Amino acid sequence: MEKKTERLIYLDNAATSFPKPEAVYRRIDEVLRVISGNPGRASHRMALEASRVIFSAREAIARLFNVRDASRIAFTKNATEGINIALKGLLKPGGHVVTSSFEHNSVVKTLGRLERNGVRVTKVRPDKDGLLDPKDIASAIDKDTKIVCISHASNVFGTVQPIEEIGRLCRNKSVIFMVDGAQTAGAMPIEMDAMNMDIFAATGHKALFGPQGTGFLYVREGIEPEPLVDGGTGELNITLEMPDRLESGTMNTPGVGGLGAGVEFILKEGIAKVKRYEEALIEALLDGLRKTEGVRIIGPADAKKRTALVAFNIAGKTPAEVGMRLDNDFSIMVRTGAHCAPEAHREAGTHPDGAVRVSPGYFTKEDEVEEFLRAIREIAK
Ligand code: ALA
Repeated sequence: MEKKTERLIYLDNAATSFPKPEAVYRRIDEVLRVISGNPGRASHRMALEASRVIFSAREAIARLFNVRDASRIAFTKNATEGINIALKGLLKPGGHVVTSSFEHNSVVKTLGRLERNGVRVTKVRPDKDGLLDPKDIASAIDKDTKIVCISHASNVFGTVQPIEEIGRLCRNKSVIFMVDGAQTAGAMPIEMDAMNMDIFAATGHKALFGPQGTGFLYVREGIEPEPLVDGGTGELNITLEMPDRLESGTMNTPGVGGLGAGVEFILKEGIAKVKRYEEALIEALLDGLRKTEGVRIIGPADAKKRTALVAFNIAGKTPAEVGMRLDNDFSIMVRTGAHCAPEAHREAGTHPDGAVRVSPGYFTKEDEVEEFLRAIREIAK
């Protein structure tokens, strides 16, 4: 097939979203060019303007996730940092954590280190579609369990977990319920309290449309993780309140400003509309992939049970080979390999090569999905 270079098709939004809404580019430019003071570090007008940038981004996140007290949201540099703060800041030797067997390395490696320091870890396995049974989580909880930590949707299976139900059982057993929302924040309606979440770690640069290097950690009132990094504003006291407690050092004000603009964009569009649109694209992808001979899809067949990604393999081809052909011959960008989640690929039976993962976003056009499916049919021949 003739090499196409005229149009790039970006289908790797689960790794990082592209493009961003125009308002995101504009806000970052404005913060760097015009505002540019150090938030919370002076009382001149540029510093105050910078504080307003941070304040309004925090408020926008609180609105999108229905958080009553925005000060419970701390900005981080990514979901991984938020996960590290929460797990390392709360778990002590002798403590027990329940998690799944398909977590991203941000949870796997963090818990691996804690395990070496005397924390006990139990991993609950899902069904063949990557769905957890809350009953299995309930039976894994024991008298030492401090936290249940689950990803809202795996970045390999895409399966959306029964978060509300797991949260309810954690509340009943007085166990902290922590959710890794890297693949769902901005992609589907999420309400912290109504869904019984105590802690939620998100990245800013995926479905929330912020730049890379942004994220946030929500921690319910009454839970106070020890900070990973000390410093920050104020006097010499080391017991700062949220969010300063977890935000030591000068903030990434341009990044947080861009993240705020991304969240405001979603609020304006409506998260239900974003979800509907992406779900229709996933339905088309699942349908087309199912009809392609030799394709094996990981995760549920129903788009309603997924977040906006589909991982799959083509019989007789390595994921790397498929990704290279998509890029070189069709100018289509997807992510291949282990997706920083080797344990999820073990569960899916696709370790060590991994899979090809296609992830559309809110700016993906229907004809781009069709072109991707045509390319896959061609490669599978
Ligand atoms: N964790 C990101 C992914 O799934 C980078 O691609």
